[in-house]
Amino acid sequence: MAMTINKAGSDTELREIAALADVIWHECFPDIISEGQIDYMVEKFQSYKAMTKQIIDQDYSYFSVRDDGELCGYIGVRPEKDNRFFLSKLYLRHDKRGRGIASEMLGRVYAEARDCGKTSVYLTVNKHNDHAIAVYKNAGFTVIDEAVTDIGGGYVMDDYILSRDV
Ligand SMILES: CC(C)(COP(=O)(O)OP(=O)(O)OC[C@H]1O[C@@H](n2cnc3c(N)ncnc32)[C@H](O)[C@@H]1OP(=O)(O)O)[C@@H](O)C(=O)NCCC(=O)NCCS
Repeated sequence: MAMTINKAGSDTELREIAALADVIWHECFPDIISEGQIDYMVEKFQSYKAMTKQIIDQDYSYFSVRDDGELCGYIGVRPEKDNRFFLSKLYLRHDKRGRGIASEMLGRVYAEARDCGKTSVYLTVNKHNDHAIAVYKNAGFTVIDEAVTDIGGGYVMDDYILSRDV
């Protein structure tokens, strides 16, 4: 297996990530949030248009995760103005899970954070996303807070906030 994690630079690659996001979100979230909320959040946060705006206006970076060249996951991050680095997205297609790829993805996030001079990585995760929470805790993250965020459309995100020093 030749696994690569590279910064997503081109429009073509961002469109590829948007298509993968649509697949992964509809596969992993139906037990946690409604189909209507999944559609709404994919369009609002993970469409090509939304990600392009995040990169241009909000200092986001996206990374593509490929196995033998095939896109199978992605990472979204953003440096904060203080000493923190925000891990916004960590997504891996179902058939690639449980193989150590997620830990490599997290390792890349820590490296990117350190390269930006940051000393901690934080993230938000749905309170019912038990597997992701277990993965983050196993990686050394701890719950530091919780947040209910109104995202419009009549929907809210009900999250824990986790953090880890890097
Ligand atoms: C979150 C995600 C990227 C994790 O990837 P994964 O392949 O499922 O993760 P793994 O099963 O390889 O687990 C990663 C590590 O956590 C450990 N782990 C997994 N479940 C665990 C548990 N219940 N308790 C303790 N450790 C656990 C694994 O042993 C592994 O450690 P290792 O690499 O040191 O051996 C993936 O499940 C995913 O994309 N999920 C859907 C999207 C999502 O929810 N993203 C997060 C949104 S905030």
